Amino acid sequence: MGAGEREEEARRAYDAVAGTYAATVPERFAQDVRGRSMVAAFAELVARGGAGPVADLGCGPGHVTAFLQTLGVPAYGVDISALTVAGARRAHPRLRFEVGSLAALDAADGSLGGVLSWWSLLHTPPVERPAVFGEWHRALAPGGYVLLGFHVGEGQSQVRAAYGHEDVDYVIELIRPEELIAELAVAGFAREALLLLPGVRREQACLLVRKA
Ligand SMILES: C[S@@+](CC[C@H](N)C(=O)[O-])C[C@H]1O[C@@H](n2cnc3c(N)ncnc32)[C@H](O)[C@@H]1O
Repeated sequence: MGAGEREEEARRAYDAVAGTYAATVPERFAQDVRGRSMVAAFAELVARGGAGPVADLGCGPGHVTAFLQTLGVPAYGVDISALTVAGARRAHPRLRFEVGSLAALDAADGSLGGVLSWWSLLHTPPVERPAVFGEWHRALAPGGYVLLGFHVGEGQSQVRAAYGHEDVDYVIELIRPEELIAELAVAGFAREALLLLPGVRREQACLLVRKA
């Protein structure tokens, strides 16, 4: 399955679960002290850089975009699922949310202070990651930051039930942190911090990198 098909698969899946996702995950994030502390550290670094807004790519219901905004960092959200974006706009009417792909940003060269990919790269086939990282590098200002959250592992996992729905069908990529760090280095990003956390089914990782 190519990148376009995987985006289509993600769009279908998140359109289907948009309501239950929005009803559960933001509350979980509010309780996730370790995850929020990584996002807060990222926000402080971006704010100190003063280089531009954060693009929250694969923003879901917009709760992390809103969290960044409360920390004083201008932020907007982008998501492939139109129903998810509609929900984000309803929940956070003052913020900007766009339907779009994390692989093709509507942002001028060097215009972003940060890119957040908080559990959204898991739908991108590994072969497509170099082009995605190249696109983020293009849009980021020199010294800009990228924060990624992802599931640690190798290969893929098939998901047939999620967020209270038994009828979804999509694949997620499991990622080895050292492999991701190497791919990001090739794209021009230097590792700043890596946090590994025990998860319910598998280990989770938060990786912070910076454009040289
Ligand atoms: C697991 S959810 C994470 C949502 C949010 N970041 C959070 O932390 O709750 C993955 C999100 O990424 C979006 N997504 C998947 N592939 C995408 C792509 N290629 N471009 C933009 N958004 C994408 C999905 O629609 C979904 O909202």
